[in-house]
Amino acid sequence: MTPKAQLDVVLGLQWGDEGKGKIVDVLADNYEVVARFQGGPNAGHSLKFEETTFVLHSVPSGIFRENSTNIIGNGVVLDPIIFEEECRALEKMGVPVRERIKISKKAHLIIPTHKIIDAASEASKGKEKIGSTLKGIGPTYMDKTGRNGLRVGDTLSSDFKNRFETLRNKHIAFLKQFDFEYDPNSNINEWMSSVEYLKTFDLVDGEYLVNKELCNGRKVLAEGAQGSMLDVDFGSYPFVTSSTTTCSGACMGLGVSPSSIGEVFGIFKAYCTRVGSGPFPTELFDQTGETLRRQGHEFGATTGRSRRTGWLDLVALKYAIMINGVSSLIMMKADVMDNFDTIKVAVKYIVDGKETDQVPYDTYAEITPVYKEFKGWNTPLSHIRKEEDLPIEFKEYVEFIEKETGVRISVISLGPDRAETIIR
Ligand code: IMO
Ligand code: MG
Repeated sequence: MTPKAQLDVVLGLQWGDEGKGKIVDVLADNYEVVARFQGGPNAGHSLKFEETTFVLHSVPSGIFRENSTNIIGNGVVLDPIIFEEECRALEKMGVPVRERIKISKKAHLIIPTHKIIDAASEASKGKEKIGSTLKGIGPTYMDKTGRNGLRVGDTLSSDFKNRFETLRNKHIAFLKQFDFEYDPNSNINEWMSSVEYLKTFDLVDGEYLVNKELCNGRKVLAEGAQGSMLDVDFGSYPFVTSSTTTCSGACMGLGVSPSSIGEVFGIFKAYCTRVGSGPFPTELFDQTGETLRRQGHEFGATTGRSRRTGWLDLVALKYAIMINGVSSLIMMKADVMDNFDTIKVAVKYIVDGKETDQVPYDTYAEITPVYKEFKGWNTPLSHIRKEEDLPIEFKEYVEFIEKETGVRISVISLGPDRAETIIR
């Protein structure tokens, strides 16, 4: 059978927290299937509608749409405890989670000792720590590629408890190298009970399901987590997450061919944020940075940490567009800069005294951004619904980004609510 529909991909192009939850929720109207393909509960995708905000960590952001199928793909790492909490909250809101969620048997499980290893490893790094969300993401992917992991499908085996114990014992032996105190029994009963809850869901051969949906002409939207600059290969290694956050991750994490991919939507904020350690060339340490944080509510949806803030970085953005083959850009949160007299955008870097338009290999390189300045629009944007009503200064900002990147900005989001969106 040949696919009759295509798989479109939504990706964050910066360091995560671009607003993927809101956009997937807005776009989900046009898709029958929404699928997460990588990452895990390190993600925090916020959706706001009818005055309610909901934060999703493991469940795809199509969950609130009637008749939607929401797939947790093989590339995802799943913590049964967090999954249960999230689903019970959705059930309380009347969302029929068992009808709408399908979980790939090949997705890997985060077990309690993965989280302990994450914490011990971070503590041992001192000042060099990654700033991980400590959800056990890195250690779980290590076990996956190290061929030790436990998968969702294993929960159906009569041997599951033994396999769990084997992995846990390996972790306890591994933890001996760290000077780190922990309780080896913490959360085990709770975790096992959440595994029973997980087993009440449809555990599927995700790759067959996704391809069948495409063959039946049902459009699929793949929802990325984190952002391109946190990609394990292309991000600022080692200050990255442990999965492929870029477009090719959708093929690997769902089991679809690259030829099935249609549109690649790249989401970026009109400025930049980063949470955790690692390079951030346009970071602001002044009042402007503070205003971005306050106006933009830049505090983590998963960890509550305050986010680092700075100007838009076109060098990094163009890099992300190249790696992902972005066909359509989505700009978020320009309204946060409504009261700015001047807005800056980094158009080049100076590294070792030389100008460059490339992201340097050396994560520790000292980078001085070269900025272009724009006049602020000094007008509230959030209530604007029609493109023609947008202020001229804002249009100039948008046109400049489009010209520099060579990609059209097809959606402009001017607030967290579904309604605060201009589709061009
Ligand atoms: P969403 O999907 C922002 C960051 C962490 C840390 C690094 C590694 O909401 O955009 P990890 O827990 O993966 O070991 O952390 O990656 N990070 C995120 N930053 N948004 C996210 O997800 C993130 N997921 C991980 O802060 O610097
Ligand atoms: Mg987030």
